[in-house]
Amino acid sequence: MHTPRTLGTPLSPTATKVMLLGSGELGKEVIIALQRLGVEVIAVDRYPNAPGHQVAHRAHVINMTDGAALAALIEQEKPDLVVPEIEAIATDKLAELEAAGKITCIPTARAAQLTMNREGIRRLAAETLGLATSPYRFASSLEELEAGAAAVGFPCVVKPVMSSSGKGQSKVDSAADVKAAWAYAAAGSRVDSGRVIVEGFIDFDYEITLLTVRSLGADGKVVTQFCDPIGHVQVQGDYVESWQPCRMDPVALERARDIAAKVTGDLGGLGLFGVELFVKNDMVWFSEVSPRPHDTGMVTMATQVQSEFELHAKAILGLPVNVALKAPGASAVIYGQHEAAGIAFEGVANALQVPNSDIRLFGKPESFARRRMGVALTTADDVETARVNAKEAASRVKPVIAK
Ligand SMILES: Nc1ncnc2c1ncn2[C@@H]1O[C@H](COP(=O)(O)OP(=O)(O)OP(=O)(O)O)[C@@H](O)[C@H]1O
Ligand SMILES: [Mg+2]
Repeated sequence: MHTPRTLGTPLSPTATKVMLLGSGELGKEVIIALQRLGVEVIAVDRYPNAPGHQVAHRAHVINMTDGAALAALIEQEKPDLVVPEIEAIATDKLAELEAAGKITCIPTARAAQLTMNREGIRRLAAETLGLATSPYRFASSLEELEAGAAAVGFPCVVKPVMSSSGKGQSKVDSAADVKAAWAYAAAGSRVDSGRVIVEGFIDFDYEITLLTVRSLGADGKVVTQFCDPIGHVQVQGDYVESWQPCRMDPVALERARDIAAKVTGDLGGLGLFGVELFVKNDMVWFSEVSPRPHDTGMVTMATQVQSEFELHAKAILGLPVNVALKAPGASAVIYGQHEAAGIAFEGVANALQVPNSDIRLFGKPESFARRRMGVALTTADDVETARVNAKEAASRVKPVIAK
């Protein structure tokens, strides 16, 4: 049973303490939202000076896939809530601590466990919940992959079961390409489990993220609410621009909400989820779900009354949320373009000359060519204008190697 929390004073015995596991750009914004409610925040990441570290009360650097290290830090900090912000965590340890009544994990340890591995969430969605997905097979060897690809048909998509942001993922057009996809997956996997999923390629018209929030209603029961759909474009499995609202066929929207309600209802707990869906006419396929804010949802910092980060912060504390849209808008990613530490950003003033635009720079200590270092946000009377303006604003920010 969930109850709204009485909020305390940070750094005092009454403090409400929240530990973020993962402190990238999404965690940073969740932390800022929590800070505004006087929550004491402990930011954890695998490297020093991660974006969220820079805005938290305390920062820790540990290997979060090391269950013993994770348990020791939780024991030391004794947070009221443990909030996974990334997938690469020792989720089995979280489940063990949750089962022992030692932690409350957001939304649940089981949700973190199921979504860190494509096999867990895919089998739940397709086999247990009966949701429409691409046809799929799992494979632990090249031979199994060859058989799996033949079964789902060409073209198909091969992905390591444990990877994100498109790492190790490739589209395969014919049997001759399967071997290369197997090798590419092994190189891009987060942990080399040697296991992949092969999915039939869905020839969708567009794809959306449906942000779905489970929060407490006035009667103490969980209510599920949906933000307006977010459209996005992915390049090499990584999001480059997003916009909200994404215009949808009403039947497709109804189906999308139904899928999101089912999958988030099963995962349970409190918080915001990013449900990824493919849409063609009025057909909708479930792709995957993040039990936490979604990168494509950064657009909500401009478009919604409460951003996805505020929604998550409020929902996990048992507070009511407002999912209303404020204005149509868009986001466009700013990449590092250089491989260097401590880069600088020229042209921010120029970018902010774009009408109704804003810029977020994440403060990541080190840049890579394809590392997301910031984002441009815009609003406009319509999403088409907002998209053009967001891309224009993002392009005016020039990452440079500091002299
Ligand atoms: N079966 C498929 N058919 C068509 N396109 C696909 C399929 N699977 C993935 N894609 C495309 O690749 C993108 C990334 O896939 P997916 O979300 O599974 O990977 P990911 O590594 O988890 O990415 P992220 O972590 O950024 O969400 C999708 O958003 C979609 O554009
Ligand atoms: Mg995805």
